[in-house]
Amino acid sequence: MKIITVASAKGGVGKSTFCYGVGKLLALHGKNVLLVDMDIGVRSLDILLGVSEKTVYNWGDVIKGNCEYRKALIQSANGLFLLPAPIDFDEGYTPEAFAGILGSFAKDFDYIFLDSPAGLESGFNLASKVADSCIIVSTPDAISIRAASYAANNVRKAGISNVRLVINKFNKKIHKSINADEIIDTVGARFLGVVPESQEIYGSVEGRKIPYECKGNQALLRISRRITGENVPFRAKNL
Ligand SMILES: Nc1ncnc2c1ncn2[C@@H]1O[C@H](COP(=O)(O)OP(=O)(O)O)[C@@H](O)[C@H]1O
Ligand SMILES: [Mg+2]
Repeated sequence: MKIITVASAKGGVGKSTFCYGVGKLLALHGKNVLLVDMDIGVRSLDILLGVSEKTVYNWGDVIKGNCEYRKALIQSANGLFLLPAPIDFDEGYTPEAFAGILGSFAKDFDYIFLDSPAGLESGFNLASKVADSCIIVSTPDAISIRAASYAANNVRKAGISNVRLVINKFNKKIHKSINADEIIDTVGARFLGVVPESQEIYGSVEGRKIPYECKGNQALLRISRRITGENVPFRAKNL
């Protein structure tokens, strides 16, 4: 079981969409995947997975002993599993308690993605302390890149050395002068891939699936294969 925190320190760059898109592809290719919403208070993965109606318990309930750990899991139509976030923070949500819950799922899942919130506080910290690796998601603008470098520094401080970078919402027309190497150097993380700004990915929810062959999904597919350790060549040095 691999535990990957998906972080950025900034909202709106596409972390939750990335977790959903990549998680769905890994599940489609036979992996057992769990997505954990770390956004205490402002959950979003239940909407992306189309399971909001089914959400009863969350990982906070498991820590508090309100329910057995399997009861908090929700399975979505595409084989992905979700562990929703609690609404409020509680002092009992320690890294030890949270790691204990993930440990209960060790036999059931190949990949656990922790969908970190914006900011560098509770949900981000908890995820950084229990994950074995990190994927930083950044859009190609200066503000997002700065936030991404803060996030990368913080996960490293928490002891994660395997930090990789995804550049999301890349738009050829707008980002003509953007150089991937500069972004990679600023964030200080290994490059994992680039995902184009895509009409098909925008607002992707269960009701409106991302077509398998579209460019955005193919980019997510290449990234998902790299996550499994496959050597998928990068197409171009500059974006
Ligand atoms: N590659 C992409 N192309 C187009 N829209 C995207 C892409 N990735 C994410 N989005 C959109 O950006 C918005 C924010 O995404 P979200 O995943 O909620 O960000 P975060 O979790 O980082 O706050 C959503 O409307 C989502 O559909
Ligand atoms: Mg999110």
